[in-house]
Amino acid sequence: MRKNIVAGNWKMNKNLQEGIALAKDLNAALTADKPNCDVIICTPFIHLASVVPAVDAAIIGVGAENCADKVSGAYTGEVSAEMVASTGAKYVILGHSERRAYYHETPEILKEKVQLALANGLTPIFCIGEVLEERQQGIQNQVVFDQIAGSLFDLSAEDFSKIVLAYEPVWAIGTGLTATPEQAEEIHAYIRSVIADKFGAEIAENTSILYGGSCKPSNAKELFANPNVDGGLIGGAALKVEDFKGIIDAFK
Ligand code: 13P
Repeated sequence: MRKNIVAGNWKMNKNLQEGIALAKDLNAALTADKPNCDVIICTPFIHLASVVPAVDAAIIGVGAENCADKVSGAYTGEVSAEMVASTGAKYVILGHSERRAYYHETPEILKEKVQLALANGLTPIFCIGEVLEERQQGIQNQVVFDQIAGSLFDLSAEDFSKIVLAYEPVWAIGTGLTATPEQAEEIHAYIRSVIADKFGAEIAENTSILYGGSCKPSNAKELFANPNVDGGLIGGAALKVEDFKGIIDAFK
C-alpha cells in the first residue's frame, strides 16, 4: 500500500537557529501526539546537518529542497546529492515550479538530478504542475504528462517505484487559491493512470501523489479524503508548528 505523507518545504525561510528551533518544536509536538502518516521536512542545505540529529528519525524524515545535476567537481556554489545524503537526509525535492521558473531547470536537467538522487539513496519528491494560463486553456493533463515523461520515463520500473510525486498547480502556490478537491482528484487520478500505462498498475497503486498549493489545516482534510490524494507538500503552513501539525492531523 502507498504511504500517506505530509511534507514541508521551508523554501528560503528561517535562519539556522530558527530552523533548528522549528524542527525541535515539531519533533516535540509529534512525539507527544504521534502522526498517522509519514512526516518529512525539507530544509535549506545549510540546515540539514543540524536538523537531522534534532529530530527522531522514526517520526520525521528530513530532506533537501534541491541538489546538483552533476556528481562533483568545479561547480561553484552547488551541492551534490552525495553531500545531501551524507548529512543523513533521506529526501530531496526536485523540479519545484520555483526552480523550473526562476532557475531555468529543464526536464533534461531534472532527469540528471533524479538519477543522482536515486544513486545516492535519496527519495526524490518530484514536483509537477501547470501554470494558470495552461489550466485556463485546459491543457493541464498534457503539461503534467510532459513533465513526467521528460524526466522520469527513462527510469527503470524499480527506480520509478522509489519516487514520490507532488502535483502543485503553480496558480495555487502561495496565492491562497487552492485546487478544489474535485480538481485535485481529477488530475491525481490522471497522473496515476499515466504511471500505470508506463510502469504498470501495481507501481501506480503504490506511488504516493501529494497535493501542494495553499494547503492549510482548514482544507487539508477534504483534499486528502480523495482516493488519489496521498497527502500534501506544504509551503507557508510548514513554517508554523501549529499549522503544519493541523495538516498532519487531517489523517486522524
Ligand atoms: P504554499 O503551501 O505556500 O502554497 O506552497 C506550496 C509549495 O510550493 C510547496 O512546495
